Amino acid sequence: MSSVVVYNLVKTYAGGDRRATDGVSLEVADGEFLVLVGPSGCGKTTLLRMVAGLETPDSGTVSIGGRDVTYLPPRQRGLSMVFQSYAIFPHMKVRQNIGFGLTMRKVPRDEFDRRVKRAAELLHLEEYLDRYPAQLSGGQRQRVAVARAIVVDAAVLLMDEPLSNLDALLRLQFRAELKRIVGQLGTTTLYVTHDQAEAMSLGDRVAVMRDGRVAQLGAPLAVYDRPADRFVGGFLGSPPMNFLTARVGGGALAVGDASLQAPDHLSTWEGRDVVVGVRAENIQVATEPAAGWVPARIEVVEPTGAALLLTVRLADEQLKVQAPATFPAAPDARVHLRAEPAALRFYDPESGLALDA
Ligand SMILES: Nc1ncnc2c1ncn2[C@@H]1O[C@H](COP(=O)(O)OP(=O)(O)OP(=O)(O)O)[C@@H](O)[C@H]1O
Ligand SMILES: [Mg+2]
Repeated sequence: MSSVVVYNLVKTYAGGDRRATDGVSLEVADGEFLVLVGPSGCGKTTLLRMVAGLETPDSGTVSIGGRDVTYLPPRQRGLSMVFQSYAIFPHMKVRQNIGFGLTMRKVPRDEFDRRVKRAAELLHLEEYLDRYPAQLSGGQRQRVAVARAIVVDAAVLLMDEPLSNLDALLRLQFRAELKRIVGQLGTTTLYVTHDQAEAMSLGDRVAVMRDGRVAQLGAPLAVYDRPADRFVGGFLGSPPMNFLTARVGGGALAVGDASLQAPDHLSTWEGRDVVVGVRAENIQVATEPAAGWVPARIEVVEPTGAALLLTVRLADEQLKVQAPATFPAAPDARVHLRAEPAALRFYDPESGLALDA
């Protein structure tokens, strides 16, 4: 068993004016890949460093495999780490870099060779074992750092933005590789990124953090589909979720002159404004009007290759709409929009929290 349980972790740095983590609780199940995602400064690295034992919390606990490790030094926690600055040793060949943790543990020669070979195979580094890091590309060096972390077969793997030094294409390739490797190993993994697409693609579950707290934790698609608040909806997804203000009245939602059917659970909001959230891909667009469709005007047309991303104006609101690549779109053209009622989400305009059905 190597679950990781974090309970109510609070950390304020000396000289810091606010809490870097403000009572974070979460559980990474045995063998699970959990991604911590959130904007810069929200406390991801701080949380990871407390799990690693590199930082001591003001209060709260960290347990690994059912054992309280809150005050144990890093080497007694049975974990392995990859950091953003991957810090491989320039004077050592790839073989010695990958096997560093094994050397430290005085693993016998034949076992060293076997394990380094396996890690190198997993990361497609076999042909580079006798090179020095300076003779590798950035992506290869990053793979060496990951190989070095997995070779020790730790029960828990911690990774802080391990792909951050790669260009966009390499990042995409290595992301898929990493998913394959960690899936194969079945290691309990806590992975930090500020890249929402990376979080969605890698995580069994994602924890979206904001201001030192977990805003929402769940399966990537569940969080994407039902953001618990406006922050999460605006952070996950590209483009972010659209938000429009609508007035509830007589069973309808008014956005400017347009009217949508209001779900029953909004009856308590009669006469007040709510925020409607809807994803770009859940809005249909047509050139001709039809009953129940809402007129809007195209402002910007951006081809993404697979689709068109339209910026449209509806009353006072601007929203992003995903149209088929073949849609005849032009700036200033009038179009008609519709969304499946089931795809609409509703938020409290004051607190930003989801209004549950
Ligand atoms: N050593 C430190 N001393 C003082 N304040 C710190 C220290 N490290 C982090 N902080 C502060 O704690 C907060 C959380 O920082 P942290 O590094 O955990 O954020 P992060 O989510 O990892 O951000 P990023 O995505 O930029 O890496 C920030 O406000 C940061 O300025
Ligand atoms: Mg960080």
